[in-house]
Order: sequence, then structure tokens, then C-alpha cells
Amino acid sequence: MNLKGRNFLTLKDYSPEEIVYLLDLAANLKAKKKAGIPMDCHRGKNIALIFEKTSTRTRCSFEVAAHDLGIGTTYLDPKSSQIGKKESIADTARVLGSMFEGIEYRGFGQEIVEELAKYAGVPVWNGLTNEYHPTQMLADLLTIRENFGRLKGIKLVYMGDARYNMGNSLMIACAKMGMHFVACTSKEYFPNSELIQICEGYAKDSGATLTFTENVEEGTKDADVIYTDVWVSMGEPDEVWEKRIKELTPYKVTKKVMENAAEEAIFLHCLPAFHDLKTEIGKEMGERFQLAELEVTDEVFESEQSKVFQEAENRMHTIKAVILATLGEPDEN
Ligand code: CP
Ligand code: NVA
Repeated sequence: MNLKGRNFLTLKDYSPEEIVYLLDLAANLKAKKKAGIPMDCHRGKNIALIFEKTSTRTRCSFEVAAHDLGIGTTYLDPKSSQIGKKESIADTARVLGSMFEGIEYRGFGQEIVEELAKYAGVPVWNGLTNEYHPTQMLADLLTIRENFGRLKGIKLVYMGDARYNMGNSLMIACAKMGMHFVACTSKEYFPNSELIQICEGYAKDSGATLTFTENVEEGTKDADVIYTDVWVSMGEPDEVWEKRIKELTPYKVTKKVMENAAEEAIFLHCLPAFHDLKTEIGKEMGERFQLAELEVTDEVFESEQSKVFQEAENRMHTIKAVILATLGEPDEN
């Protein structure tokens, strides 16, 4: 399979076979890294990392993955560049495309990363937009495959705001890979009907099913994977917290939820998570809402069933696979 020159903007653009190919490549790169086998086959190349929102995992994954491949990185944050304010995305794309072999972009609307890709002339990778988080999907699928040995037939339940990047992307990933996706949340937070329709099309081909329910007991029954994300995403106004806490608290991942799931069920979260009061923002939340734990209890987060750190590590291996596949693999691979 040859993915050289391709952008990575949303999983909608990738076939199930291409997704499996990237997962296999990531597993291979992970094994090589553990064995200490060098993979610096792209020495002399450079990539730009644009972050209009904050990041720990995605930025570090791109940096470490690139360095492992022999690639230099330049990090651009919104304050220290001209992007979007003094200079258009199209002009930025043409400038960066003339200096770098690839560009990562994390920001707001999906149309921005699409515009960047249109003008860059080099592969552009989506490091999270309001609508999609495709590199996170590869890490999640790899983690699920590592735990269950397969993807087909796995029941994944997403609890929380399913209209945003994580809910949208998980629905696409499950629909493509023949998994059973359940959005278990208040109706208002179901994904939009246009995307549901697109995913119904993928599901017809893959044998996946899509379910939308407000009923926690029914929705999480016998689930293999319970997944949640923050209730308020980056870039959303602070004022929405109160409403979200009220409406999404019934969909908090608790021990009871995990007990209702399958015996071997795992818990996943893209992170960062609100599960304790140790962080500055956690303390603030505790004072404001008398809630130490939001979308998941500390008990579940710290349990054996929680695979969130395996998932986080897999961000790096899967991002490395995307960079390698789209910049071109050496012949021996
Ligand atoms: N999951 C994820 O994208 O984490 P960061 O925001 O830390 O990159
Ligand atoms: N929905 C979250 C995901 C963080 C990785 C956000 O956009 O902030």
C-alpha cells in the first residue's frame, strides 16, 4: 500500500484497508522502538507543527515520532507566528510548504486544515479540529486491538458530548471498522444527522451498527469499551460548564457503568481528564461546582480496566506511522 503524499485530515478519507495498514505499521514501529531498532530513515527532512490550541500528547507525539524518524521539527504557537491574523492560511500554507516536508495543524474549524492542505503542496496532518481528531482514532483503535485482538464486532460506547471532535471521530472509526458504536448521552449531544447518514453508509459495508440512546443501562450493557472525553472542549466558552454538568452528569463513567459493561471491558479517554482535584483547574471546578470528578470517577480512571496510559503512549506510535506512510516508507518496509 502506498500512502505517500496523502493528507491525514479525517478518517472519512481513508478506507478500512488503509486504516488497518496504518495500524499494522504503527504496531511494527512500536515493536522496533521497544527493541531499540533505529528508524531514522528521513534524516534531513523537516516538519512544521502548528498549535492554535494547547496540547501535551499530540505535540509530544509529533516531536518524538519525527525525531525518531530523523526529522527536524519547528513548533509554531498562535502568539509567536503570523498565522490567521497577519497572514492568510493560503499564504501560510505556501510559505511553509516551500520549507517543510509536512505540516501538522491543531486548531478550530475543519475548513482551516482543509484550506492549509489545499495550498501546502506537502502532506498536512490534522492534530485536532473542532470537528475531528483522526490521529487520536488510530491510537484508540490500536489500543482496542491490543486488548481484544480484533476490532470487528467490538461494542464501543461513547458517553458525553458526542457532537464534537471525539464523538464524531469515534463514530466514523467504528462505522469503518465494523464495530458497534453507541452514543449514550442526552439527545441534544447526539452527533449531527448529516454525519450519522454518512456513517450509516460505511456501516452497511463493514457490518457496523450505530445506536443513539439516552438510557445508560441499555446503552452500556455488555460493552467492550466505555469511552468518554471532557464535557467542555478547548475553545468553548467557560459559561457552558454549568449546563454541561447538569445535563451530562447522568452520563459520568462510574463503577456501576463499568459493572454493567462486559466483564473484560476496558475504559478509554483521549485525555486530559477531569477525575480529581489535584490540578489547578480541578481545584477551581471543585470550588465552583462541588464536584471533584466530572466525566469519570477517580476509581474508574485508576482501575485495572483503565487503559488510558497505554492509549496515550499509542498516540506516538500511530502518529509516527502516519508521518512515515505519508512522507514515504523506505524500500525494506
Ligand atoms: N488527546 C490529546 O489530543 O491530548 P493533547 O490535547 O494533550 O494533545
Ligand atoms: N474534545 C476535546 C478533546 C481533547 C483531546 C477538546 O477538543 O478539547
